[in-house]
Amino acid sequence: MSSNTSTLTVDNKAVELAVKEGTLGPSVIDISKLYGQSGMFTYDPGFTSTASCESKITYIDGDQGILLYRGYPIEQLAEHGDFLETCYLLLYGELPTAAQKADFDYRVTRHTMVHDQMNRFFTGFRRDAHPMAIMVGCVGALSAFYHDSTDISDPHQRMVASMRMIAKMPTLAAMAYKYHVGQPFVYPMNDLDYTSNFLRMCFAVPAEEYKVNPVLSRALDRIFILHADHEQNASTSTVRLAGSSGANPFACIAAGIACLWGPAHGGANEAALKMLEEIGTPDRIPEYIARAKDKNDPFRLMGFGHRVYKNYDPRARIMQRTTHEVLNELGIKDDPLLDVAMELEQIALKDEYFVEKKLYPNIDFYSGITLKAMGFPTSMFTVLFALARTVGWIAQWSEMIEDPSQRIGRPRQLYTGSPRREYVTVAQRG
Ligand code: CMC
Repeated sequence: MSSNTSTLTVDNKAVELAVKEGTLGPSVIDISKLYGQSGMFTYDPGFTSTASCESKITYIDGDQGILLYRGYPIEQLAEHGDFLETCYLLLYGELPTAAQKADFDYRVTRHTMVHDQMNRFFTGFRRDAHPMAIMVGCVGALSAFYHDSTDISDPHQRMVASMRMIAKMPTLAAMAYKYHVGQPFVYPMNDLDYTSNFLRMCFAVPAEEYKVNPVLSRALDRIFILHADHEQNASTSTVRLAGSSGANPFACIAAGIACLWGPAHGGANEAALKMLEEIGTPDRIPEYIARAKDKNDPFRLMGFGHRVYKNYDPRARIMQRTTHEVLNELGIKDDPLLDVAMELEQIALKDEYFVEKKLYPNIDFYSGITLKAMGFPTSMFTVLFALARTVGWIAQWSEMIEDPSQRIGRPRQLYTGSPRREYVTVAQRG
């Protein structure tokens, strides 16, 4: 293989393929002409060796445990920045100046209310509806309310749609929560920062004043930063694929939310907490470790393992620290779930099965304990993930729309069904 081409031999015929180099990470072999030249497709279920696009937004080195947003390490952004600054960075590619940040924060803040008729949408759901089901429906419904920002060929409308989604997602998420617990909706309060406003919309009630705890607000803001983007994961790829057909951005984000819901993806935070509750006490950990290792048992340690990270998930480290901060602030000295989590982590990190397969805690392992301590029910965990990931989805969607080489995403397949056969009428079938 030369430095910028690669040769593949198909049926004794050499096919020259271009090799493209990125700024960091593995180069890619451009196979877009392969079918034309060889009559063959490539086959990669689960996309373990396939780069689906070119992107300038997020970089992950899974072996080293590195995550960069627009080149900046996640640790530095989480330590020094705030979520709206991260949103600006992901959307525009650079950290904002003070004036740009003030303007961006102002613009997001002025879009926090949702059309009042949206309230009626919520009441159409059963009270016991999962808030993620409500989110899929209500975010999709935004496209029926904001016709003036669904023309994807107009950059201004794309920008307005992006602002609207970043701004309205906390309002919708809080409404889903309030509906779920049977309390009245709380309207946004624009003199609060993004995350404090969200906490207030979730936990204030009309009967008394609500004072935002700045430590909890900062912790949740950091959790949002950690979840803001993660390159071409399943939900982001879903958003890109939905968007590649020209669908409107609200519909595309609703598709991303649906994909995120699954327990192998964003639903893992809910599943991890349920698992810790089920384990209950550290003495039962060996039983669950044994189940996770048993090939005949579908049980997996939720919050462990990652398609890309074959090292400690850098987000999990920050999350673990945040968990301790939140529990300290709330005066929770002994949390039995945290005891189980820390012990489980220690045992798994030394266990041959987990070591050999490079299974480390991921971001979802500790996030559930933190969110539960803040007062969120388990069913809201994935909603919070969706809220934070919305900016990543939008940044990736915008990048795709603005890419001149963008075409509809249309994977092919290896067909293994029946060869052609003739239709037989029902009377003639044996
Ligand atoms: N517990 C026990 N065994 C595991 C686990 C686990 N959590 N994760 C992977 N394995 C084993 C798996 O059985 C397989 O073993 P073998 O090679 O013997 O068949 C091997 O490790 C590789 O697993 P895989 O399923 O082929 O790997 P994948 O890259 O397709 O899956 C994953 C990645 C995240 C879906 C998987 O690790 C998993 O199901 N983890 C639990 C769910 C979870 O925590 N998801 C959150 C991901 S982070 C947040 C996000 O980005 O959404």
